[in-house]
Amino acid sequence: MLDEINMTPEQIKGIKRIVITACGTAYHAGLVGKYVIEQLVRLPVEVDIASEFRYRDPIIDKDTLVVVVSQSGETADTLAALREARRRGARVVAITNVIASSVAREADDIIYTWAGPEISVASTKAYTTQLVAMYLLALYLAQERNTLAAGNIKEILGELKSIYAKAQEVLDNAAPVKEFAQQYHRSEDTFFIGRGLDYAVALEGSLKLKEISYIHAEAYAAGELKHGTLALIVENIPVIALATQQSLFEKMVSNIKEVKARDASVIALAMEGHTEVAKIADRVLYIPKTHQILAPILTVIPLQLLAYYMAVYRGCDVDKPRNLAKSVTVE
Ligand code: BG6
Repeated sequence: MLDEINMTPEQIKGIKRIVITACGTAYHAGLVGKYVIEQLVRLPVEVDIASEFRYRDPIIDKDTLVVVVSQSGETADTLAALREARRRGARVVAITNVIASSVAREADDIIYTWAGPEISVASTKAYTTQLVAMYLLALYLAQERNTLAAGNIKEILGELKSIYAKAQEVLDNAAPVKEFAQQYHRSEDTFFIGRGLDYAVALEGSLKLKEISYIHAEAYAAGELKHGTLALIVENIPVIALATQQSLFEKMVSNIKEVKARDASVIALAMEGHTEVAKIADRVLYIPKTHQILAPILTVIPLQLLAYYMAVYRGCDVDKPRNLAKSVTVE
């Protein structure tokens, strides 16, 4: 039920490009949105940090659909980006959790994420629900623009409806993450690597680790490592390798071998059945099989847990992370 999307079929067909803008974790949900919308709707999508977008004299017009993502709906930079987009004639869809928030009031269309009040200061379920909103938006646009067969839309929707049970499975089988955290919580540097959608999730995983355990983390597009930073992969450095994307799996295996050749300690996240990864990684956590486009919903869970366990083993107060606020209404 996207009953607060008011675009007419003609307006949807008239969209030439999409710009997604947000801050922090919401920006990372936007990165997943880019991959998903481009793949399903075949429209060019740009993702921009709201504090960059608003000051950059952005190129947008009435044929641009701007999507703003904000859990609180009150983030100053995101709100300013929304106003800038509307001033330039773009239509704005808001993905937000808070009913009647500023972002919701000022947007043309709204998708509420219905996450309920988020207690954790570090954004967790807000991210998951923002992903779901992105999938629904992409599927709706794909349906209206005829870029995806009805059968495929039904298949993805069906999987989306039942994915909560797989999320529970991930939570129940997260022991390798806890063990990895116990072993490496004293590390001061970590790397997250992935390709495609896994890269977008790697960015969110590294942000969570930094936010609550204060460990330096770098998220890298796995194919980019060899263009410089491989020098930082040294003995025993923890590398979290995301390899859930079937079409990129072989490439990821090569990247894992690259870091293993430098004696990194690797925990890999792979889809069930991809057991060959166990031969090269030190530990593997298997994600229940799902449509590869929906994998981020499941993949982020072990990364959030990793940040949590690392923080707990380091004696950090996960409920009161240093310098982290739920909502930032100043610039
Ligand atoms: C930061 C929060 O201040 O703002 C992050 O600490 C959040 O957790 C970001 O992702 C954006 O907030 P919002 O409410 O616009 O999604």
